Amino acid sequence: MFGLSGVGRSHRGRAANRLTVLVSIAAFVVPLSGCGAVTAGESDTVRVYTGRHYDLEQAFEDFSEETGISVEFLSGSDAELRERIAAEGEDTQADVYMTVDAGNLWKAEQDGLLTPLDSARLEEGVPEGLRDPEGHWYGLSMRARTVMYNPDEVDPGEFSAEDTYAQLAESAWKGRLCMRNSTNSYTQSLVASLIDNHGERRAREIVGGWVDNDVEIINNDVRILENVDAGTCDVAITNHYYLARLLADDGDLSVRPFWANQDGRGTHVNISGAGVLAEADHPELGRELIEWLATTGQNSFVDGNHEYPVNPEVDPEPIIAEFGEFDYEPIEAEAYGSLNSRAVRLMNEVGYE
Ligand SMILES: [Fe+2]
Repeated sequence: MFGLSGVGRSHRGRAANRLTVLVSIAAFVVPLSGCGAVTAGESDTVRVYTGRHYDLEQAFEDFSEETGISVEFLSGSDAELRERIAAEGEDTQADVYMTVDAGNLWKAEQDGLLTPLDSARLEEGVPEGLRDPEGHWYGLSMRARTVMYNPDEVDPGEFSAEDTYAQLAESAWKGRLCMRNSTNSYTQSLVASLIDNHGERRAREIVGGWVDNDVEIINNDVRILENVDAGTCDVAITNHYYLARLLADDGDLSVRPFWANQDGRGTHVNISGAGVLAEADHPELGRELIEWLATTGQNSFVDGNHEYPVNPEVDPEPIIAEFGEFDYEPIEAEAYGSLNSRAVRLMNEVGYE
C-alpha cells in the first residue's frame, strides 16, 4: 500500500485531409491552437486518441503555450479507439493513447499498440505502482472509488475498516444502499478487484449480498450522491471527485467520504494514463506531452476534475485535500483488464443490474 501524500504516491493539403479523417470518426476534435493546428507543420503537432473526455482543453492549451507544440485530440470509447489504432496500423495519425482505466492501458499494451518509453522524468514523477514496469504506459491522475455516507443516518464507527466493500453485503445495510450500474467501467473494475482479492466465490457472495440488500442501482455517480444527501440512501459507493464537484457548489451537503479498507488492502483506486503508440509518427512529441502531464502539467490536468495527482511532489487541490490522506490498494492493471469479462458475468449471474 502507498500513502497518498508525502510518499507514494508539411503539407498543407495533406494536413487538412488528415484532420477531416479525424473529424469523421467520432466524437470531436479540437484544434487547440486555432487554425494553426490545421495548417501547422507536422513536426509541431502531437495527436492524441483519448477515452478521457474531461479537462483536456485546459491541460493541452497550457502545454501548447509552454512548449509551442500543438495538440489535436480525438475522443471515443476506449475499446473503439484501440480497435481503430490497430486497424490503422502504420498509417495511424495518433501519437498517444490516453484512457481512464488501468485495464484499458494493459489491454493496449497486450495488443502491441504501445512502445516503451525510457524516461527519467517519468520514472521520477510517477510512482512504481502507477505505471507499467516496462514503461509502455504511465498513470497521470488517480481517482478513488470509496464509500459515501449521510452523516445524519450513519455513524462512521459502524463501518468495518478491514473490508468495507464486503461489509455492505451484510443484512444490517438492507434497504440502505445505492450503487452504480453494472455496465459502467467503474463498477466493473471494482468487482474485478474483488475477484482478484477474494477469489470468485467470495466475490460472488459479496455482490450477491448487495443484491440481497435491495441495492438501488443508479446509472450516474452524481445522482447517487444526491440521493445520499437527500437521505434516500444512507450509503453508496462512488468516485471521490463527484463528491468534490458537488461540494464546490454546496459546502453543506450531507455526504461524507469514508476511506474503505484502511485496515485491509486500502481503498480501490484507478488511474487515467497514457502511452506512446508503437506506430506514432512523432513519438518524441508524445513522450514530451506525457512527461509534461506527469510533472509540470499535473495541476492543470487533475485539478479541474478534483483528481489526485500521481506525482508525490504535487499537492491535491484544496477540496479533496480536506478528505484527508488514505492508503490505496495496489493497481492491478492486468487483473482489471483480464478479469473484466468475469466481473461482468458474475454481476449478471447474481442479478446485479
Ligand atoms: Fe467519472
